[in-house]
Amino acid sequence: MKRIGLKNMGIGLIMWLIYGSLYAQHDIETRIDKLLSEMSLRQKIGQMNQLNACKPDEKLYQQIRNGEVGSILNAEDPVLLNELQKIAVEESAAGIPLLFARDVIHGFKTIFPIPLGQAASFNPGLVEEGARIAAIETAENGIRWTFAPMMDISRDPRWGRIAESFGEDTYLTEVMGIAMVKGLQGNDLSDPSSVAACAKHFIGYGAVEGGRDYNVSYIPERQLRSVYLPPFEKALKEAGCATVMTSFNANDGIPPSASKFLLTDILREEWGFDGVVVSDWASVSMMVQHGFCENKKDAAQKAVNAGLDMEMVSECYINHMEQLIAEGKVKEETIDRAVRNILRLKMRLGLFEQPYTPLDKKKKAYSESHLQAAKKVAEESFVLLKNQDDLLPLGKNIKKIAVIGPLADAPHDQLGTWVFDGEKEMTRTPLCALKEHYGNQVDIIYEAGLSFSRDTDTGNFSKAVKAAKEADVTLLFIGEESILSGEAHSLASLNLVGAQSELLEKLTETGTPLVTILMAGRPLTIEKEINLSHAVLYAWHPGTMGGPAIVDVLSGNSFPQGKLPVTFPRVTGQIPIYYNHEKIGRPAKKTEMLLNDIPPEAKQSSLGNTSYYLDAGFDPLYPFGYGLSYTTFEYSNLKITRNKLSPSDTLEVNITLKNTGKREGCETVQLYISDLYASVSPVVKQLKAFRKVWLNPGESRQVTFEIPVRDFGLWDINMQYTVEPGAFEVMIGGNSQQGETARFNVN
Ligand code: BGC
Repeated sequence: MKRIGLKNMGIGLIMWLIYGSLYAQHDIETRIDKLLSEMSLRQKIGQMNQLNACKPDEKLYQQIRNGEVGSILNAEDPVLLNELQKIAVEESAAGIPLLFARDVIHGFKTIFPIPLGQAASFNPGLVEEGARIAAIETAENGIRWTFAPMMDISRDPRWGRIAESFGEDTYLTEVMGIAMVKGLQGNDLSDPSSVAACAKHFIGYGAVEGGRDYNVSYIPERQLRSVYLPPFEKALKEAGCATVMTSFNANDGIPPSASKFLLTDILREEWGFDGVVVSDWASVSMMVQHGFCENKKDAAQKAVNAGLDMEMVSECYINHMEQLIAEGKVKEETIDRAVRNILRLKMRLGLFEQPYTPLDKKKKAYSESHLQAAKKVAEESFVLLKNQDDLLPLGKNIKKIAVIGPLADAPHDQLGTWVFDGEKEMTRTPLCALKEHYGNQVDIIYEAGLSFSRDTDTGNFSKAVKAAKEADVTLLFIGEESILSGEAHSLASLNLVGAQSELLEKLTETGTPLVTILMAGRPLTIEKEINLSHAVLYAWHPGTMGGPAIVDVLSGNSFPQGKLPVTFPRVTGQIPIYYNHEKIGRPAKKTEMLLNDIPPEAKQSSLGNTSYYLDAGFDPLYPFGYGLSYTTFEYSNLKITRNKLSPSDTLEVNITLKNTGKREGCETVQLYISDLYASVSPVVKQLKAFRKVWLNPGESRQVTFEIPVRDFGLWDINMQYTVEPGAFEVMIGGNSQQGETARFNVN
């Protein structure tokens, strides 16, 4: 009886929530109807106009007063925001509040690791918590919309914006994208600490040719649907992401800002999205440079008719839309639809009820709990690439440490790309953290050797070498300054810049064990430097708390547990080299001849007749999913509960994981699926699930995965998402290239 009562109460609560939210939605639509009926055409078009307010001037004030601005980006002083808001609410005829936006990519004041580093944590819970903190710090300044997460699948580390992405894999990007959206938006958008998220860049921006930013992409529809669109669909449907941003790249000749296929057919009709679509910075007027539009008026017409609601900064809408309507080229109902989306977002955010930011509240930015959360994410993001003779964690017998390198004490650079509000004065560097951690017990000798990553002046090498000679261990901090990755920072070579590699070589000559810690926004081609180092930790750009996080891992207070979210090439010429490529007709057997195996005057032949580079071999430097620990793990006993399944079943699979080393550790157990044969050539394997498992030395645990078979589908020959009958293989392991396998059939 009691149980039934509780169940009924539960159902009652669910019904109340459903009706409540339907009612609230209905209420919002009725309020929008009323507003729309009272607004002039000019005011409506004003809502679709987003302007930059880095340096607000009298012109901007007047535009707001005229009702010609719907949203402002890049202003962050809450006093100024309230002032601008007052003009919109009290002096403009329609009185519609402005929506303030800003890029908060990996933290507002407290800076978290770059998103690529966050993805390496394989810990969506931490990513969500970090985004929640970022939202709290953002919203307390009056900003309620941010342009994150970036969900571009990034398979080319030459592209500087790979730093802002979650890497090369669709599933990992889905999981991390959902986590970030949930963290930013909180439980309810109307909560004053919630910030509307923006899934960007829609679509294919990470696939620009040659990794050159702003370039073109060629992604056919099947690949678009299989690889690039799913993270967006999930972020919208499963996390309720409020907005979407169109990308700069023209894909197969069509800029997404004017693609009806993307913005109307897919986003609105297939996915039922009712949020706002915003352009990227001037990506509407840029369509003139693309040669896709004759002039800005043409650009406004094409963008709005495709389904782009709000234009960022290039003012094609505000300057040309009335004329376009008068000429019958754009229908007023198209404008109404766009404005409805914008007003709906403003209402969901509660801006009409609470347009202003309270100025008297104590700010939470940089609070201790925020800093500790940033440290935790950083710690989990570090990937241990090498640990010869268990050099790490540093032994208790160490009395003297040489700290070398341009990034050992670089508070600005460790924050990483696209940071506007985080302050270097608040950043804790490895050098400071080492001194704090070891106090008087260990002598820390600091000699940077180079003053910044691109520095080529070797004048201070001798001091660095002397320090290394005297020390028990050398910690070398090298990599990239923050400005070398991010937007418009594409690189043709991924070798270490400046004289960093030479510095490393000099240090190895001292014979002192060398630990190299790399801080970078992307994978670098560092095979030689890894070979020369005894241990290597990849720390990305780790953010405000990077220093203490690194020191905790090096000293053994915690342990490394990150896994690579992107394949590391040996040389740039191997790119693209992502793990989940389509099956090829002649895959390498890996026993074929390499460049120096070919005899002089060799007769014409196709050598091994397979697909590989003679000079770079068969493999990347490190595969996707790779990362060591201070302990070792053994996988055994893979078992599938049932190996004949239908598309509506769930695959249940178990594996035993054992900690075979002497220390505790956390392993990210990864599950990959291969469809062995299909109506279109399938990919070799794809990540479909992962789980982090903590184990004490000697401890074993059975890890169970339950995954719906419908997740193993593909976009078939008729461009339908289908799970095709036939044989599949599951692989479970610690990276994308090694694991236990088993087969099952879907009928
Ligand atoms: C970037 C976007 C960013 C926007 C606003 C553009 O240059 O591509 O990612 O959100 O600027 O700052």
